[in-house]
Amino acid sequence: MSDVIKRNLFDQYMVPCFSPASFIPVKGKGSRVWDQEGKEYVDFAGGIAVNSLGHANDELKNALSSQMENLWHIGNGYTNEPVLKLAKNLVESTFADKVFFCNSGAEANEAALKIARKYALDKYGSHKNEIISFENSFHGRTLFTVTVGGQPKYSQDFAPLPQEIAHLPYNNIDAIKAHISEKTCAVIVEPIIGEGGVIPADPEFLKALRELCDQHHALLIFDEIQTGIGRTGYLYAYEETGVEPDILTSAKGLGGGFPIGAMLVKQHVAESFQPGTHGTTFGGNPLAAAVGGKVVELVNQKEFLAGVQERHHEFIQRMVVLNERYQAFSEIRGKGLLLGAELAEKYQGKAKTLTNLAAEEGLIALIAGPDVLRFAPALNISQQDIDDGFMCLEKALKRFVQE
Ligand SMILES: Cc1ncc(COP(=O)(O)O)c(C=O)c1O
Repeated sequence: MSDVIKRNLFDQYMVPCFSPASFIPVKGKGSRVWDQEGKEYVDFAGGIAVNSLGHANDELKNALSSQMENLWHIGNGYTNEPVLKLAKNLVESTFADKVFFCNSGAEANEAALKIARKYALDKYGSHKNEIISFENSFHGRTLFTVTVGGQPKYSQDFAPLPQEIAHLPYNNIDAIKAHISEKTCAVIVEPIIGEGGVIPADPEFLKALRELCDQHHALLIFDEIQTGIGRTGYLYAYEETGVEPDILTSAKGLGGGFPIGAMLVKQHVAESFQPGTHGTTFGGNPLAAAVGGKVVELVNQKEFLAGVQERHHEFIQRMVVLNERYQAFSEIRGKGLLLGAELAEKYQGKAKTLTNLAAEEGLIALIAGPDVLRFAPALNISQQDIDDGFMCLEKALKRFVQE
C-alpha cells in the first residue's frame, strides 16, 4: 500500500458524513495554518469555535506535556488532580455548584437533558417530562440531542425519536408563554444560536424564559457550547444577560482543541445524578482536564476578555467597510468573536461558495447555514492576522460578487 496521504483517501476510507476541503492542513501555530503543499492560511474559523487560544499554544502544550509525563487515564473508579482543579475553578467562576465532565458538546447536552428529566421525575413525578427547545437551534448529534435541536433535517431519518419535545420560535415570548405548562421539565436555549445562523437572543426573551421556568418549576438550560469560554467577551455569555440558568453546557473552546465537555449545575439539580445514574469512560480524563484547566485560567482574566471585545469592534468595523465596497451582506451580527454576516438576498444560499473562494485566497472561514458567513477565530488573534485575513477576504469577496 502506498503511504502517500492525499485527500482522495477520505472518500476511499471514511464514512462520508463530512465533505472536507480539498486541501489537508498539517500544521497550525497561533491563527495560521499550513497545508500539505506549504500554503499558508489565516484562520478565522478556530476549528469551529474550539481553538480558543489558537493552534499549538505554548502554555497549553506545557500543560498537556507535563500531565502526559504523569498520568493519562485512570478511570472513574478514582478521581484525579487536574479534574478537581478544573471543577473548582469552574464552580468558583460561575453560578454553578457542581460539574460533570464528558468529551463533547453533544454529551454535555445529553447529560443536561437526562438530569433535567431525572430531577423532574424525582421531585414531581413522571408526568413532568416535556422539554422545550427552539426552532433552528443545534444541540449535538446524539439521538436525544438531534431530536431536541430545532432542525428536523438532522433527526427525521432516525425515527422513532425521543418523545415529549416541543420546538417553539426563538425570541418569541408569546409563543412560549402560550405553550409552557406544569408538564414542562426543562427549556434549553442557546444564548446565541450558532450553527443556525449566529442569532443572538433578545435579553428580554432570556429574562422571560427564566421567569416562566420559575413559575412552572422547569429547569433552564443554557447551551453555551459555542458561546462559552470567553467567546462573547465573558467567561460565559449568561453573565452579560443577567439571567442565570440552572444548568449550563460547555465544550468546544473549553479544551482549546483537546476534546472535553462539561455540564455545570446547581446543587439541587446535581443530586439527581447518583453513582450509577449516568457516566462516561473518558469524561474527566486527566489529559483533557489539564488542558481545560489551563484554558480557563488563561481566558478568565479581565484583560484577556477585554481583548475579545476590542477584537469584536475591529472585526465589525472591517466587515462594515468591506460591505460598503461590495454590498454582499444584509446584516452583520454577533457578539465577541462569534460573528455572522448574512448574505444579501441575491447571494442567498452561497455562503459555501464564499468560504471556498476565501480558502483559495488563504483564509479559513465558516458558514452558519447556507446564507451566513461565520467567524469564530482564536480569542487572542493578532492584529497582523486580522489584517491579513481581511485582505484575503476582500480578494475573495471581489471574485464572489463578480462571479
Ligand atoms: C450550541 C451547540 N451545542 C452543541 C454542539 C455539539 O457539540 P459537539 O459537536 O462537540 O458534540 C454544538 C456544535 O456545533 C453547538 O454549537
